[in-house]
Amino acid sequence: MSTIVVLVGPPGSGKGTQAKVLCERFGMAHLSTGDMLRAAKKAGTLEPEFLAIMDSGGLLPDAAVIGLIDRRSREADCSPGFLLDGFPRTVPQAEALGTMLDSRGLKLDAVVQLDVKRELLEERLIHRRTDKRSGQIYHLLYNPPPPELLQAPDSLEHRKDDQPDAVKTRLDAYDSMTAALLPYYEERGLLRRIDGVGKPEEVTGRVVASLDTVK
Ligand code: AP5
Repeated sequence: MSTIVVLVGPPGSGKGTQAKVLCERFGMAHLSTGDMLRAAKKAGTLEPEFLAIMDSGGLLPDAAVIGLIDRRSREADCSPGFLLDGFPRTVPQAEALGTMLDSRGLKLDAVVQLDVKRELLEERLIHRRTDKRSGQIYHLLYNPPPPELLQAPDSLEHRKDDQPDAVKTRLDAYDSMTAALLPYYEERGLLRRIDGVGKPEEVTGRVVASLDTVK
């Protein structure tokens, strides 16, 4: 039986950081719509209008990301289960996910919300750097990249949507579109609210404890 978990939280709440650890620990595939879109951008296959939306911090049309998840979640590595990071982000995406899982005889086990206040999020995003080769996420102050990466700045990515204007747009999009998922999943008894403040390993411990009752 597959374990299927959604990780939801505002930009910078630590979804990517936690997803990597949780997927290793529970043997789930990591399905991040943001990573998939950035990979398409790098490969030059992302439609120019989608590229502009992403860079400015807006949300892509629901149909585009639903199609991505539908295809990716059918791949072999998803059979033991998968963790959705950054999807769904709107109620129509959540409804589409429900329909998709139903049609395959699957069910969502849990929705984990990482709760972090807005003031902390801006600070986390502006100082984020990502190792271009491994995808490892760093923070210039709290979890700095190793000296060899700092001495070769081209090896570190500073995301275009981590510039202050795009960060504000992304946080506003979360408040106006994505926060509606919390009551949606709470009504269905799936929501687990986790304090996302503290050392990353402390947050992992809280998430793992909240998933204890899954399966
Ligand atoms: P996406 O890549 O999903 O971005 P996001 O949701 O904005 O989330 P982030 O990746 O910015 O943050 P995160 O929560 O993963 O935090 P992280 O672990 O990196 O999406 C990008 C764009 O793609 C969207 O804006 C949209 O355009 C498009 N898109 C994607 N999905 C879509 C969808 N479903 N529908 C429509 N459009 C979609 O951590 C952030 C920083 O904090 C790092 O520096 C990290 O080191 C640090 N940090 C992490 N944990 C801690 C901690 N506990 N304490 C201190 N620092 C910490």
